[in-house]
Amino acid sequence: MSLNNNLERILIIDFGSQFTQLIARRVRELGVFSEIVSHKRFNLKLGKNKTKGIILSGGPLNVYQSKKVKFNNEIFNWNVPILGICFGHQIISKQLGGKVKQAKQREFGLAKLKKLRNSKLINNFFIKDKAKKVWMSHADEVIKLAKGFKVVAKTDSSKFSIIENVSKKLYGIQFHPEVTHTEKGNIILKNFIFSICRIKKNWSSKNQKKILIQEVKRNVGNSKVICALSGGVDSSVVAKLIHNSIGKKLTCIFVNTGLLRKNEENQVIQTFKKKFKVNLIYVDAKKLFFNKLRNIKDPEKKRKIIGNLFIKIFEKYAKKNRNIKFLAQGTLYPDLIESKSVTGSQTSKIKSHHNVGGLPKKMKLKLIEPLKFLFKDEVRKLGLELKLSKNIVLRHPFPGPGLAIRIPGEIDENKVKILKEADDIFIKSLKENNLYKKIWQAYAALLPIKTVGVMGDNRTYEYICLLRAVTSQDGMTADFFDFSKDFMQLVSNRIINNIKGINRVVYDITSKPPSTIELE
Ligand code: XMP
Repeated sequence: MSLNNNLERILIIDFGSQFTQLIARRVRELGVFSEIVSHKRFNLKLGKNKTKGIILSGGPLNVYQSKKVKFNNEIFNWNVPILGICFGHQIISKQLGGKVKQAKQREFGLAKLKKLRNSKLINNFFIKDKAKKVWMSHADEVIKLAKGFKVVAKTDSSKFSIIENVSKKLYGIQFHPEVTHTEKGNIILKNFIFSICRIKKNWSSKNQKKILIQEVKRNVGNSKVICALSGGVDSSVVAKLIHNSIGKKLTCIFVNTGLLRKNEENQVIQTFKKKFKVNLIYVDAKKLFFNKLRNIKDPEKKRKIIGNLFIKIFEKYAKKNRNIKFLAQGTLYPDLIESKSVTGSQTSKIKSHHNVGGLPKKMKLKLIEPLKFLFKDEVRKLGLELKLSKNIVLRHPFPGPGLAIRIPGEIDENKVKILKEADDIFIKSLKENNLYKKIWQAYAALLPIKTVGVMGDNRTYEYICLLRAVTSQDGMTADFFDFSKDFMQLVSNRIINNIKGINRVVYDITSKPPSTIELE
C-alpha cells in the first residue's frame, strides 16, 4: 500500500546518503508529503503529475563513477524545480556540462557561508548578509559551473556552495540544510518547497488519519485482517487505525512470547479487549518461544526464529478463519530503510528487524503495513489523533524480538524473569523522577556474565545489569542520556536491593553510531 497515488509531493531521489530520511522528515515537518525513491529505481513514469519538486540527495558515490550512478537527464525536462544537495548538487553540475573533481582538501564540519547575491532559495536565511554556519561533508567539489548557472553563496573552501539556474528552476547546495548543525537550514528547504515548487501543505496527522483510513478500506474491501498486536506504539496505532477503518473485520492476535516487559500482557488486554472492544485472540506461546530459543546464541538467528514463529502463529489462526487475507504490521519507514532498503539504495543492512527480515519466504497472508511511510513521531501524533492513551502512544519504542535481544547470547526463563524486574524498576524510577519523557528510549539489559560482589558479609556471584537510555529523533542516531549521580545511585541501589541475581549495575555511555541502541 502506498500513498503515492493520491498526494502531491516532493520526490526525493536517494543516492544513498545517511541523511536522505532526514530530508524527507524535514519536508513533512513543513507540512508537505515527501517520498524517497532510489536513484536505481527511479523511472520517469513515477507519478510525474503529482511531483511538484525534486530533491536529489547526497551520497557516498562520486559523480564521475558513471557505471554506478544511474541518472536520467530527462528529469531536467520535467519543468519541475530540482534541488540538489551535496552529491545532488554535483550531479546537476556534471550532467549539465559543469566539472566535478576530487577536492584538494575534504570539507567536513562547520563552514562559514557568505552570500553573494539574492535568490528565492535564501530568502530570510541570511540576517543582514552576515555569514552563516553551515554543515559540510564532501570530498568532491564542483570546479566549473554548468552553463546558465549563477553563484549565490560560497565558503572559503568551496566557491560554488549555492548555485542556481532560475529559468530552468535548478538549484544546488554543497552543504546539508537538513541537519541541525546548519543554522536555520530549514528556511532553505521551506523556500524551495513553498516559494519555488509552490506546493500546498497537505500533510498533517489529521489528514493522515483520514487518508490512511480510506486506504485501508479500499485495500481490504470485504476481506478480514489479522493484526499482530504487541502492545508497543506501532502495533497499537496500526490496530486502532484498522479497527477504526473496518471494525469487527479486524482480529488482533496478541502473542505472549514470554519476552515482553513486566505486566505488558495485562495492559494490552485491558486496553484493546476491554476498552476498545477489539476482537482479540490471546495466544500463550511462552513455552514454544523458550524451547525454540534454547541454546541459540547468534543474534541474527534469534531474530529469525522469533520472526518465523510469529508468522507461523498468525498463519495458524488465519487458517481457522477462512476469509482472512491480510496480516497487518506496524512497520515504519526507518524499519524498512535500515533493514533492507525499501529504496534499494546503498544504505547498508545493519540488523534484520523481525517484522521485515524475519518473514518466511512463502507467506500465505498478504501484508498490510499502513505506517510504512511514517516516521515514529508521525506515528505518535497519529496515535493521539486516534484517541489512544498517552501512556501507550508516548511509550518508548520496544523491539519486536523483545527482551531476547536485551540478553546477549543464550536466553532462558530465569534470565528473562530477572530482567523484567530490573527493567520495571528502571522505568518506574524514570517516571517518578520526570525523566521518562526526556528520553527517547530506555531499558535494562542483562549481561550474562557473572562477577563477584559483597552483600552483608557474604560473597555474591551474579549477573550484570546494563542500563541504556538514549536521546534520539528517530532511532537512526542516538546519544546517551546524561543522568545525575544521585539518580544513578538510586536506580542501582533499587535494582541490587530488590533483585536476586544481579549484583552489579553499569551504564552504557556509547552513542549510535558507533553502537546501536539495542545490544543485538
Ligand atoms: P538499533 O538497535 O538498531 O535500534 O539501534 C533502533 C531502534 O529500532 C528498534 N529495534 C527494533 N524494532 N524490531 C523492531 O520492531 C526489531 O527487530 C528491532 N530491532 C531494533 C530499537 O528498539 C530502537 O528503537
